Amino acid sequence: MSVVVTGATGHLGRLVVEELLELGHPAEEITAAGRRTDRLGPLADRGVATTRVDFDDPASLKAAFAGADAVLLVSGSELGRRVEQHRNAIEAAREAGVGHLVYTSAPRATTTSLVLAPEHKATEEILAASGLEHTILRNGWYHENYEQQLHQARETGAVVASIGEGRVASAARRDYAAAAAAVLRAPARHAGAVYELSGDTAWTLDDLAAAVGEALGREVVARNLTPEDHLAALLASGLDEDTARFVVALDGNIRDGELADTSGELAQLIGRPTTPLVEALRALV
Ligand SMILES: NC(=O)c1ccc[n+]([C@@H]2O[C@H](COP(=O)([O-])OP(=O)(O)OC[C@H]3O[C@@H](n4cnc5c(N)ncnc54)[C@H](OP(=O)(O)O)[C@@H]3O)[C@@H](O)[C@H]2O)c1
Repeated sequence: MSVVVTGATGHLGRLVVEELLELGHPAEEITAAGRRTDRLGPLADRGVATTRVDFDDPASLKAAFAGADAVLLVSGSELGRRVEQHRNAIEAAREAGVGHLVYTSAPRATTTSLVLAPEHKATEEILAASGLEHTILRNGWYHENYEQQLHQARETGAVVASIGEGRVASAARRDYAAAAAAVLRAPARHAGAVYELSGDTAWTLDDLAAAVGEALGREVVARNLTPEDHLAALLASGLDEDTARFVVALDGNIRDGELADTSGELAQLIGRPTTPLVEALRALV
């Protein structure tokens, strides 16, 4: 069964290809696709086919998807441009006669107030209207999003946020990748499914500080600021205003509980408990 993985030049897509290989999927039935194809060498060395796709170039998408039984559309990284880009990919998949499309979305994409969700909601709607057999993986937060916090805590002994009592049910990228690979191995079994994927445990900022401290082997405290003070601190640290406001808005979403759900669906798909936060942080150290 031939499978195309987009975003294979990025973190998640590469892990999906690795997980497919680990599950015994034949390398010659996998195509790793992305723009910066120079990054695909290590996968090519393992026998995987590689190809260039650009979500802004429909012909590249159609050529890459031709004859594929399943395509994983890893959501793009160019915020504000993704609806058109994802539309191009879905349209290309339809025209190429792809059997099944799997899309990486966001938690409760159609109903959440998460600032990142509107592009995912729009993509889910395009996919529903396309007539393609599909599965939606609503991926929660990555543990690895806290890499920057880890580096800062190493310097300052603190993790800083404005999440109040909000909790985050994050999981390791590799766990989400394993779930995607499991679905790609047997897409018909997951046709029409919408999975809310997250870690088994939802942590608070105090829990994050404890985990970061354990990973670094030093004392780390939690500094839970007001949104106003958080914005001021981010600007003072040199972050540009748009990014700083975005970070504070995301923390507001966390405060409101938008990333706290522990559905258990990720553990079910991968057949094991999700990776604990501290383990992923240790790997980053
Ligand atoms: N759940 C979370 O916590 C979280 C956090 C961050 C991001 N995300 C979302 O999840 C996706 C995967 O995460 P990640 O960590 O793997 O991100 P990543 O390492 O930044 O990878 C993004 C991938 O998207 C590809 N891409 C972007 N624009 C493209 C375009 N116009 N045409 C073709 N490919 C394009 C990139 O290809 P090239 O590198 O070849 O350009 C890259 O392979 C992200 O793109 C984003 O939508 C989720």
